[in-house]
Amino acid sequence: MKAPLLRIDGLVKRFGGLTATDCLSLDVAEGEVHALIGPNGAGKTTVINQLTGELHPDGGRILLDGTDIVGLPVHARVRMGLARTFQIVQLMGSYTALEHVALAVQANAGHSFRFIGDARADERLTGPAREILSRFGLATRADRPVAALSHGERKQLELAVALAMKPRLLLLDEPMAGLGAAESAQMVELLQSLKGQFALLLVEHDMDAVFSLADRISVLVGGRAIASGSVAEIQADPAVRIAYLGEGDA
Ligand SMILES: Nc1ncnc2c1ncn2[C@@H]1O[C@H](COP(=O)(O)OP(=O)(O)OP(=O)(O)O)[C@@H](O)[C@H]1O
Ligand SMILES: [Mg+2]
Repeated sequence: MKAPLLRIDGLVKRFGGLTATDCLSLDVAEGEVHALIGPNGAGKTTVINQLTGELHPDGGRILLDGTDIVGLPVHARVRMGLARTFQIVQLMGSYTALEHVALAVQANAGHSFRFIGDARADERLTGPAREILSRFGLATRADRPVAALSHGERKQLELAVALAMKPRLLLLDEPMAGLGAAESAQMVELLQSLKGQFALLLVEHDMDAVFSLADRISVLVGGRAIASGSVAEIQADPAVRIAYLGEGDA
């Protein structure tokens, strides 16, 4: 059997006396959408931060394509094909949407474009960047500074920037957070259309979105995976219903 793209093996992270990641093991296959769900404080963002290298685990292994990446810095992991978005959008307010994506295209292109003086003015970078923006319905927003975009547009832009990096594994931390119903539906549709192009670890509280996108779901409670399975299996799991979906007496 082919090794999974990502294997988390016995991961442990403590904050003082709190065990935020409690011996977690989880796989994500190539091209799979794996949703990580769980109540507030379950440890979902903490897992993502250890995958990206922003937090160092206290134990366990993180294998990307069979290589343990725990000792690698953030940028080395990005080069290996990891990209993320944040629960709270992190963009630079005075840069335009186009500049953000163009810089990501440049970062991804590596050597060939490293010596371009101004990435934001070079057609070899802005061309592909405009194309990505239009795929996200942001073509008319390209030249606006991020500060002038709506919350929903910023969430979309953050995803556009991550995709410009051509990731093999994308980590999304609550892409629907703060979006209205129409914007959420648009985001789900967009993610649906990209399915299979990269593996996705999706942290999300919007269960409609999770159930329509996920190939597999793992349920985190108190840093532990209490269940892992298909959408149907998770929906039917009595422990999940009690611990998380709040349907103990259903
Ligand atoms: N840097 C930190 N220092 C101390 N405790 C932390 C730190 N980061 C997270 N925690 C704690 O670890 C636990 C897990 O937090 P985390 O943010 O990973 O949860 P989450 O599942 O992402 O929650 P939410 O759904 O609210 O985003 C919480 O109890 C949180 O207070
Ligand atoms: Mg979180």
